[in-house]
Amino acid sequence: MKRMLSGIKPTGGLTLGNYIGAISQFIKYQDEYEMYVFIANLHSITVAQDPKELRQNTKDLIALYLAAGLDPQKVTLFLQSDISAHAELGWILTCHSYMGELQRMTQYKDKTAKGETNITAGLFTYPSLMAADILLYDADYVPVGIDQKQHVELTRNIAERFNNKYGETFIIPEPVIPKVGAKIMSLQDPTKKMSKSDETTKGAIYLLDEPAVARKKIMSAVTDSIGIIRYDEVNQPGIANLLTIHSVLSKESIEDIVERFSNHGYGDLKKEIGQLVFDFLSELQDRFKEIKNSGIVDEVLRQGKEQAEQIAYKKIRKVKRKVGFEIVK
Ligand code: AMP
Ligand code: TRP
Repeated sequence: MKRMLSGIKPTGGLTLGNYIGAISQFIKYQDEYEMYVFIANLHSITVAQDPKELRQNTKDLIALYLAAGLDPQKVTLFLQSDISAHAELGWILTCHSYMGELQRMTQYKDKTAKGETNITAGLFTYPSLMAADILLYDADYVPVGIDQKQHVELTRNIAERFNNKYGETFIIPEPVIPKVGAKIMSLQDPTKKMSKSDETTKGAIYLLDEPAVARKKIMSAVTDSIGIIRYDEVNQPGIANLLTIHSVLSKESIEDIVERFSNHGYGDLKKEIGQLVFDFLSELQDRFKEIKNSGIVDEVLRQGKEQAEQIAYKKIRKVKRKVGFEIVK
């Protein structure tokens, strides 16, 4: 069975973008692949975190994974910081990454371009740690939203470089990007990604938003003055984004939705999507509450750690041997 791995940072609330771009894919593939899903808490501290909030966000993220439908019988669910091999391999791969290639990574480039002053060294080396996450488990596939594609490509380059120098060590992974929903846009500015750290919370639907509040956000989503419902990312990015959200939640194809709404205005379309989002969040949050009250989260993490560490420690030992750290055979 091929192996698949992905992670999400426990920073701020999870958005509908995270669900559509990442989590819904994990669920879709959990029967088909040997699946590893983790909480990228080492990555989260590349920007300042409040420890209390981090703890809370971590617990919520695990409960959300489960509420969304990840089955701990099928998926190994774990905390990145529980497996010290991530940090160890992260360092080794940092030493096999070039300044130039890290400088080209969008996240760092954007923050520098904006003139942000408190950028940590960790934010710069972040992609090398992400490479370690993936290569440690010999993942064949990495399901992510489009924004992470360049990190998986960098991972491939680092893996090839390492294999060339030390002999076959790592599997070369492939990104898996969803056909619909690889980049859900902000409801307030549909030319920007819907993001956890959106300046206006009206632009993002959080998975733990009150369903009625989320519905209002859909109703006030920015569209255009063209007035025709069709899928045109360039000229009508707001409507294209709404159609995408509809299609993912309703499982109806975009063409069918467009056809059904051919004689309708934007208000009607928004109303239907508002209801879909309302129902989706209500159900998800009911399950979320149940899971949080059940105490299952601790047990899932304990089991996940046990399963993940067996693979990770075997790999890190091999890597240490290859680079010349282990002197006793
Ligand atoms: P992050 O919140 O940055 O840890 O992202 C976790 C996962 O969600 C990654 O696979 C991202 O590519 C994906 N993701 C984040 N925001 C969006 C979005 N607006 N649309 C689609 N996927 C997203
Ligand atoms: N960098 C990813 C993000 O911001 C999170 C992440 C960390 C990840 N390590 C990973 C995703 C390994 C996939 C595989 O979304």
